[in-house]
Amino acid sequence: MTSSSALPGSAQPAPSTTGDAVAPGLDAGHPLMDGRTADSPLIQAYRGGKPSRRPVWFMRQAGRSLPEYLKVRQGVAMLDSCLRPELAAEITLQPVRRHDVDAGIFFSDIVIPLKLAGVGVDIVPGVGPVLDQPVRTATDVAALPQLSWEALEPIREAVRLTVAELGSTPLIGFAGAPFTLAAYMVEGKPSRDHLGPRTMMHADSETWTALANWAADASGMFLRAQLEAGASAGQLFDSWAGSLGLADYSNYVAPASARALDHVRHLGAPLVHFGTGTSELLVAMRDVGVDVVGVDYRLPLDEANRRLGCTVPLQGNIDPALLSAPWDILEAHVRSVIAAGAGAPGHVLNLGHGVPPETDPTVLTRVVELIHSIPAE
Ligand code: CP3
Repeated sequence: MTSSSALPGSAQPAPSTTGDAVAPGLDAGHPLMDGRTADSPLIQAYRGGKPSRRPVWFMRQAGRSLPEYLKVRQGVAMLDSCLRPELAAEITLQPVRRHDVDAGIFFSDIVIPLKLAGVGVDIVPGVGPVLDQPVRTATDVAALPQLSWEALEPIREAVRLTVAELGSTPLIGFAGAPFTLAAYMVEGKPSRDHLGPRTMMHADSETWTALANWAADASGMFLRAQLEAGASAGQLFDSWAGSLGLADYSNYVAPASARALDHVRHLGAPLVHFGTGTSELLVAMRDVGVDVVGVDYRLPLDEANRRLGCTVPLQGNIDPALLSAPWDILEAHVRSVIAAGAGAPGHVLNLGHGVPPETDPTVLTRVVELIHSIPAE
């Protein structure tokens, strides 16, 4: 297991061409290495290029907005569905078939590494992740079981089955960032303000660091399993980082996020970092050492690009709320997102957070068609 907790001082500049899509740590038969995905629009844009087709995918594109998802999930608990490789592969493929998006996002959950390590956790419908026992003291952290490489086999198998069907469409692997994961572990359930972990950082920083490092290693191994088995890019979700000020983020969170990514940097696949409410954290999130920054719906992409000094490709940031607006309003919004992203060194269209469950899936298909119909400059 990698044990570096060093915080890189600056972002790695994105390569300016698409010619060097080399991923030195991956096998020759990996989709990124054997010619299947290296020149795909998504990977080109993640590497700082301007592909002729504008790439688009949606966070939470698999899931409750799709009737075919609700059908195959009937009678199967959420986390069980993630651990049945054929089912996880089928659910990952559903939105790719339906919407013609430029990537699949692996169907799983940020708490799967906890479950595979042996931590008692479930996803309660309409609530979210709930732990049998919250993790709050040094003793609790010391008692956490270690995730083994073997336990990740259902994940590797699901990825292998998925990429065998995807062909030249890249699969994006993902993991929860240590703060978001630890926030669930300390609270034991979803919370609004994340008071528990924010108190722990200051009141017992040693225990916090041990917990954040445990979460970093579990998430890092989970992401590495997906990338090695065939995912062509990886995204770290720090969904709740926006509850932190910059000082707490830099001191108590960024080093652990860098540590999670230390598990996969040597593989050479593009890495994306996304959180919500992170307008003030974008530079610090880039500086954990990623290739692409995901922007939520709150900050226009031209302003995000200015804050980042035009150093990295951006991903985002259609407001999910507008998916339910009349089409002419949504279309104008999508066009304005494209215009705002034009100055960045690469742009992958996405939402500014996940697809709301009540979204009409035909609207998502229409958004993809619109984006693909607008010629790249
Ligand atoms: O297309 C995709 O993005 C599919 C894969 C995916 C899921 N969860 C499936 C899922 C991904 C990338 C996640 C990540 C995830 N899980 C995050 C980070 C992204 C974000 O949305 O901020 C977080 C915070 C979680 C934790 C989690 N899991 C929550 C808050 C919930 C919602 C609980 C509810 O019922 O409201 C889940 C469950 C979950 N994960 C669902 C899906 C499709 C819904 C469960 C169901 O369909 O029964």
